[in-house]
Amino acid sequence: MQKKTIETKLEIYSFEELDMSYQFLIHKAKEQVQKAYAPYSGFHVGAAIELENGEIITGCNQENSAYPSGLCAERVAMFYANAQFPDVAVKSLAIAAFTNGKFLELPVTPCGSCRQVLLETEMRFEKDVTIILYGTKEVYLLENVKQLLPLCFEKSNLIG
Ligand code: THU
Repeated sequence: MQKKTIETKLEIYSFEELDMSYQFLIHKAKEQVQKAYAPYSGFHVGAAIELENGEIITGCNQENSAYPSGLCAERVAMFYANAQFPDVAVKSLAIAAFTNGKFLELPVTPCGSCRQVLLETEMRFEKDVTIILYGTKEVYLLENVKQLLPLCFEKSNLIG
């Protein structure tokens, strides 16, 4: 028997310490929170994506009375980006969440399904996507999606 520990590398910053480009992307994600449609959970999430060509794409969660039919902010933004710019790699993604009258203090982290979708984009363009997770007290920076999804399922697994 062997044991193995898998690490997730992340950097923790205050908002003020971040590069201007990351601060800008967070600003866009926070703006997008106001457009979220979340009447069932009251949990409003905004996502902002920067593409390699400089284009900024935003999205927010879209809930539904048939709960599973709704979609998270990250996937709304990423699917839109990939649909509109199928040949342009994604550089970075920022998310922010607002509930009970304030932005979360600790960074909001993407759900499992979103991690899988973000990973597909990272692999599709063979280009790391910087992940920026916003909280009012601290911001997490991850160098790629792979950090969020160790032991992932990806296309090489399909070959067997
Ligand atoms: N949600 C997101 O949009 N992104 C996340 O990272 C976490 C969860 C949404 C889904 C649902 O509309 C609400 O937040 C509560 O789970």
